[in-house]
Amino acid sequence: MDKYKKIISEILEGLTGLSRQEILDLIEQPDNPEYGDLAFPTFSLAKTLRKAPAIIAQELVEKIQKPSDFSKVVNLGPYVNFFIDTTKLMEETIKEIIEQGDEFGSSNLGEGKTVVIDFSSPNIAKPFGIGHLRSTVIGNSLYKIHKFLGFNVVGINHIGDWGTQFGKVIVAFDKWGDLETLNNSEDPVKYLYDLYVKFHEEAEKDPALEDLARDTFKDLENGDEEKMAKWQMFRDISLKELKRIYDILGVHFDSYKGEQFYNDLIPETLETLINKGITEISEGALIVNLDKFDLPPILLRKKDGATLYATRDICAAIYRYNKYKFDKMLYVVGAEQSLHFKQVFKTLAIAGFDFSENCEHIPFGLFRFQEGKMSTRKGNLIFLDDVIKKAISLTKEIILEKNPNLQNKDEVSKQVGVGAIIFGDLYNDRIKNVIFDWDKILDFNGETGPYVQYSHARICSLLRKSVAEEVKPDFAALNSEYEDSLVKKLSQFPDVVKNSIQGYKPSVIARYLISVAKEFNRYYHYCPINKEENPNIRQGRLMLAKATAQVIKNGLNLLGIEAPEEM
Ligand code: ARG
Repeated sequence: MDKYKKIISEILEGLTGLSRQEILDLIEQPDNPEYGDLAFPTFSLAKTLRKAPAIIAQELVEKIQKPSDFSKVVNLGPYVNFFIDTTKLMEETIKEIIEQGDEFGSSNLGEGKTVVIDFSSPNIAKPFGIGHLRSTVIGNSLYKIHKFLGFNVVGINHIGDWGTQFGKVIVAFDKWGDLETLNNSEDPVKYLYDLYVKFHEEAEKDPALEDLARDTFKDLENGDEEKMAKWQMFRDISLKELKRIYDILGVHFDSYKGEQFYNDLIPETLETLINKGITEISEGALIVNLDKFDLPPILLRKKDGATLYATRDICAAIYRYNKYKFDKMLYVVGAEQSLHFKQVFKTLAIAGFDFSENCEHIPFGLFRFQEGKMSTRKGNLIFLDDVIKKAISLTKEIILEKNPNLQNKDEVSKQVGVGAIIFGDLYNDRIKNVIFDWDKILDFNGETGPYVQYSHARICSLLRKSVAEEVKPDFAALNSEYEDSLVKKLSQFPDVVKNSIQGYKPSVIARYLISVAKEFNRYYHYCPINKEENPNIRQGRLMLAKATAQVIKNGLNLLGIEAPEEM
């Protein structure tokens, strides 16, 4: 639509005295096709021209020389209504999509701009729980969308690899664990987690354990070699497991610098903040009072000298700005941390770090399973690994039933099962809580990932079955309302991608893909393709189908979902 809006702004510029930008801002996309594809409202001209809007619209239409991209330009009440010439649009859109292929919808909008995205960031003393899935999935999609729009993107996994919990794991390991069992364990992360759970059970009986853990963490902060070696070993084991999960999900990071990385930089950061005169000592602790901003004080260093999550976030932000000189830094973290980020950004701001204005918390709601739909393991935690396994096995059952002859069932079950989880998340407005229901997200006929993937695979199969013909496509004959509305949908894809970063909403793309798949299935129902006798029309329709598959594939890709050609 951008292209058409631009043409309209060029025509109306001279006729209205408005700037092109003002015109672009005014142009509307009517919901009702009877009002055309684009409409220009004349209300804002009424005052200066001292005429009724309907009259202004009428006069404008008389003066406009209809450009070839539009089939008609009329005036309906106070609007100038533009109807796109669909034959031309049909041909241009289909050719453009097929020519650009995987690049269709991309742009250089973000050229020269760097966006840092902090996402996933699980805590590794614990197993990868379902809570971090949303951050992973939303962050990964935002990463891909920004790349597609030409931004230079840096994806950072701010691993939670520091804090008292590591004191706890080390204490527990020394007391009840042993190296051999750990090394021979099939699931070492679970082994460590069990120790962590045991620590809490024992600490209920013997509170002295908590002090021991705190001291152990202090030793870690001070660089105690033996303890650091254990920490390093636990981190390596956890990271290996994490990477295995990221591989299944198809997620990539440019940096795994976790909280520990900033340990050595903290004294310098604290000194900077102290020198700026924004800190104070309160009951032995170093804090920044944020009363003036209606925020609780931020705690930077405890009485015992230990630093905190917030301290490391401040340190990390400064480090990242120096390293990447980002234009934007996004933190994809649950809404429950809103206050934390407000405090961190405000502290950076009053310390004079102007880049804080370009830091943004991208919050999201909670993720819950429909009651009884997922059993929990110890500690009431749902493990992402179990969820993924279940998604894949449920998908495999469906595939065995629907398409028992499919070649690579395991690979496709993985693509579709994982796709169902991702889509089931991204389809929702991110700020809303998501209630996860297996029957819903795996419904091949519902508003789901499998439905979109299935529509894509169906087109691929259609294309495989059709004989390649060297005939000219007859685009003019593709003039049913189904073909019209499908091609208009496809032509909107580049705009949809751009809109999705307005407010950082992958859901915009997910919802669009559902409507593309629906439009296609309607078109396919009413307009025969391989049964069509005229080879030129058949060719045109095949090309429209091919373009649809391409758009679906590109859209799924931006959500981090694969598009199998058969399923
Ligand atoms: N590890 C943290 C948690 O699970 C999330 C970290 C988010 N990123 C950040 N820079 N604070 O709560």
